[in-house]
Amino acid sequence: MRPRLAFARRRFYGRDMPLPSPDTLDPAQLASIMRWYLDMGVDCIVGDAPRDRFADCAAEQIKTPPARAEATARALPVRGDAEAPRAPLVAAAQNVPPPTPAALATDAATRTAAELAANAHDLDALRTAMDAFEGCALKRTASRLAFEDGARGARVMLVGEAPGADEDKQGKPFVGRAGQLLDRMLAAIGLDRSHVYIANVVPWRPPGNRAPTPQETAICLPFIHRQIALCDPDILVCLGASAMQTLLGVREGITRARGSWRDFHVEGVDGTRKTIRALATLHPAYLLRTPIAKRGAWADLRALKKAMEGP
Ligand code: URA
Repeated sequence: MRPRLAFARRRFYGRDMPLPSPDTLDPAQLASIMRWYLDMGVDCIVGDAPRDRFADCAAEQIKTPPARAEATARALPVRGDAEAPRAPLVAAAQNVPPPTPAALATDAATRTAAELAANAHDLDALRTAMDAFEGCALKRTASRLAFEDGARGARVMLVGEAPGADEDKQGKPFVGRAGQLLDRMLAAIGLDRSHVYIANVVPWRPPGNRAPTPQETAICLPFIHRQIALCDPDILVCLGASAMQTLLGVREGITRARGSWRDFHVEGVDGTRKTIRALATLHPAYLLRTPIAKRGAWADLRALKKAMEGP
């Protein structure tokens, strides 16, 4: 249980009341506690014992990047200084703190994902490889892989952030409320799921619908790159800021960056570098919360339709 949740639970019962144990509660009380957990956003169990993840994060936040950057800057020869003595540089390099175990684990998992992805020569092989992959912790809390929906080889590929609860149950991207709005958006320009291919950057549901961490995203990135290469669409549509930032490297916010055509670069299945036209638009889940933003999404859909009708 997260510490903040334990704190909320303590406040719920009062400071002096003993916390009830499941053995002393009747079914109605247990049901009411379960409802309370759900209201607090706890909708899956990830372990038997509480774990202070804030403390874990604090321990991991050894200031590796700034220290490394500084040491690297000191270790780089100054321009025109090629003959400068090397000894102080070696000393500076020795001061670089070693990468944390968590950073090493992320690197190793990302390398394994890249190898598996590169060896998958069709979408079925990629799915099988991802199903067998144990490098992303989200797999342990998700019910299943939500790999794809729509038509393989479609001219348009849509990519979202990560599955939610409905997607996790069905093992398909965009089948919940956001997905239903996506269907209506596609229908507005005469398309349905037989005309598009759909996936997510992260294919396993993060617990409680939280956003995937940068490490989880980095580990899954080789898989979505390969999935795009194997689908080989003419047009890639990033649904929401997260997919846009991850795939297109755009740092601006989605409300400013949406609607502009960009290039997405990927290594094709034949090993050559491919460029795919890409468009970022607002995430349907955001549109559900902010209907006024639909005007922008409609403009993007029209731009998509026009691009599909073009050469
Ligand atoms: N949001 C996403 O980004 N992807 C889904 O599959 C569902 C909701």
